[in-house]
Amino acid sequence: MVPCTVHTVRRMTPQSVVVTLDPGAALPRFRHTPGQRVTFCLDINNTPCLRSYNLVNQLGDLPQVAVKQVAEGGSSQLFNEQLQPGDVLQVAPPMGHLYDHRLDYKAHHLFLFAAGSGITPMFSVAQHALKARPDHRVTLIYANSSARSIMMQQDLDRMAGSKRFEVFHVLGDGATGEDLSTGRLDHAKLNRLLDQYRSKDLPEVAFQSGPAGFMDLIQEVATQQSTPFDVKRYSFAEQPFVHPQDHSSSALESELTVTVNGISHTLPNVSRRKTLLEAADEAGIAMTANCKSGICHRCKAKLISGQTFQAPSKNTKRMPENGWILCCQQRPGSAQVEIEVC
Ligand code: FES
Repeated sequence: MVPCTVHTVRRMTPQSVVVTLDPGAALPRFRHTPGQRVTFCLDINNTPCLRSYNLVNQLGDLPQVAVKQVAEGGSSQLFNEQLQPGDVLQVAPPMGHLYDHRLDYKAHHLFLFAAGSGITPMFSVAQHALKARPDHRVTLIYANSSARSIMMQQDLDRMAGSKRFEVFHVLGDGATGEDLSTGRLDHAKLNRLLDQYRSKDLPEVAFQSGPAGFMDLIQEVATQQSTPFDVKRYSFAEQPFVHPQDHSSSALESELTVTVNGISHTLPNVSRRKTLLEAADEAGIAMTANCKSGICHRCKAKLISGQTFQAPSKNTKRMPENGWILCCQQRPGSAQVEIEVC
């Protein structure tokens, strides 16, 4: 993790901000490829949480992330409501493999599909492609609930000045009044959009980012076309698995000891991708759990030793008291972790 100073916080929409970071002398470590993200170690309610956001800056500029505030999103709230220039955040350098630079060997038509905050990796790809070659062309289909939710609008408007970039907005609230750009994107609308925008002169490559249902729809319609095409999905799957305070190991596995009713069970190779509850369940250790969403607190355990961290996208609204963890919400974060279920 690299300490980065918050350089600026710029409001983009009522629910989103662009945050610029200054990593100082570590700036070269933040060189990125389109669609890569950085991971922050944030303190949410006294619990270290890892959260990843896409870089939206031009290559070589200070790293920038765009963060949309979501209901009950502890990290997005922190970015949108609390962060101030001068604050220092711990940030892991960029990772992810979305864009293959071999695309830039010859001209392509890049077809991008985004919904809501899924715009950030697509924006990064578009920005790069327009700069990388004078003959790349980019079409972006961007779905939002309303015009007020459109992220990166100023930047998209600026890019739309180029004849090589087209953006088509689809708004759920019907604000445009036009059939094709109003309401939910469905099979019929998508087919019409593809008829309108698919390229006849350049080889095509497609990328998408958004909720699973949105991406499934795009892929389904793309494969049903008379000339089917594949749509590369943006994925949040890659995360660093080492707790930022654990310098002892870079392994992706931990030794987990779980004591239940006075009996200890040691699990030697627990993947750091799993929650403690998932690991115990798989090993046949009987642990009490109900909601598996951080709400009921029935999976509460005492952290005896080692470090754990909040799994991505898990609930951070109501946390247990200091020294206790929710096993359905935490993943192993150090070489050894010991917990006791009381
Ligand atoms: S099972 Fe309900 S909080 Fe973990």
